[in-house]
Amino acid sequence: MKKLYIETLGCAMNVRDSEHIIAELTKRDSFQLTEEIQEADLILINTCSVREKPVHKLFSEIGYFNKVKKPGAKIGVCGCTASHLGEEIIRRAPYVSFVLGARNVSKIREVIHREGAVEVDLDHDESQYAFEEFRSSPYRAYINISIGCDKQCTFCIVPHTRGEEISIPPELIVAEAQKAARNGAKEIFLLGQNVNNYGRRFTDRDRRIDFTDLLRMVAQIDEVARIRFTSPHPLHMDDRFLEEFATNPKICKSMHMPLQSGSSRILRRMKRGYTKEWFLERAARLREMAPGVRISTDIIVGFPGEEESDFEETLDVVRQVGFEQIFSFKYSPRPLTPAKDYPDQVPEEVASRRLSQLQELHAQMLDAIAAREKGKVHQVYFEELKPGGYVAGRSDNNWIVKVPGSEELLGQFRQVKITKPGRLALEGVVVG
Ligand code: SAH
Ligand code: F3S
Repeated sequence: MKKLYIETLGCAMNVRDSEHIIAELTKRDSFQLTEEIQEADLILINTCSVREKPVHKLFSEIGYFNKVKKPGAKIGVCGCTASHLGEEIIRRAPYVSFVLGARNVSKIREVIHREGAVEVDLDHDESQYAFEEFRSSPYRAYINISIGCDKQCTFCIVPHTRGEEISIPPELIVAEAQKAARNGAKEIFLLGQNVNNYGRRFTDRDRRIDFTDLLRMVAQIDEVARIRFTSPHPLHMDDRFLEEFATNPKICKSMHMPLQSGSSRILRRMKRGYTKEWFLERAARLREMAPGVRISTDIIVGFPGEEESDFEETLDVVRQVGFEQIFSFKYSPRPLTPAKDYPDQVPEEVASRRLSQLQELHAQMLDAIAAREKGKVHQVYFEELKPGGYVAGRSDNNWIVKVPGSEELLGQFRQVKITKPGRLALEGVVVG
């Protein structure tokens, strides 16, 4: 048995790509997973390139792998940084055996036998490729519904690493969901860079189906209890989609609405396609249609040209929408993106200060947001043992909830009354 060590950075799509890689190498080849780098015959790193920092870290990390690996072990670089740096990776780190782009996962079994292979073809169509099955969680199944992204947000490298958007045929998605749910994964997590643009382009050009239709199809599978998805784009949150989201009992009431900026002027420069007012209206509509929804967002501070008044508009949206969760980032100039050449880059210390200000505001808001949960009853799907005799899971609206308990709760749905709210997780007791 050969041993495979794999490290996964970045988003849920990378997690799923790694599952595909593991499945191909363990089911169709003779690999076995290991958590010890020193004993691995193949070391893979599945990279993220959305911000600059992890890219910098890549070379020191593979340098370390090279030092500790056993003689003859191979190192492969996969994912988004593989896509955008390509053969430069092997030039800078000649001990890397192959480079496999984020859109070329299905070629994994080929490249491990081709020293120096660089597979980063952005036109590669793997929308119909049937991967072997491997899931890191027995309770939740990640399923890709599209590959790539057709938007051209001016800060974002993803369209250059994952290529043009193609949708995976609905029958493959439904079959995968069915199989996973029958094997015990009651929660189906649909993945794409822009999920609610699903159906935009199929390899078979005559198809007409959108994300709302797909949600209905997956919800019809009896064994599926919950459906989550990420990431939707605020621009495609039309009433029909919000209506389905709000009324379909299997769709979890947590929505990611990536704002990026609250200033319409900056949003225009980012080419996001919506204004501050439009975003506020959609968020209000969502809260009205789905009371109890938990809204998360992504925000970038220090985008080129961002003035203090633009940043204030972002804070204003944060206050008005009352996001329950915020992922906030300092703008990071990325290769191949227009914004990196904008002349009015924001100084680092200004961006850092804005990031802390945003995070402090949200930390204060979170105390009030969490306090509202006390005494509420949530349905929790338990999936993880925690130290100190606790079991944790997620509520329908995506709070992490922990209760005193043991293994027998794993994989179970229970009603939990919240006794102790916290910023990151709630504590409660099982009441039904
Ligand atoms: N459609 C995907 C976007 C992937 S990037 C999604 O919504 O998940 C994830 C987040 O990283 C983006 O929403 C954005 O907030 C952030 N991001 C992307 N490019 C960035 C950059 N150049 N600098 C800082 N943050 C960035
Ligand atoms: Fe990136 Fe915008 Fe697509 S953030 S992934 S280009 S929707």
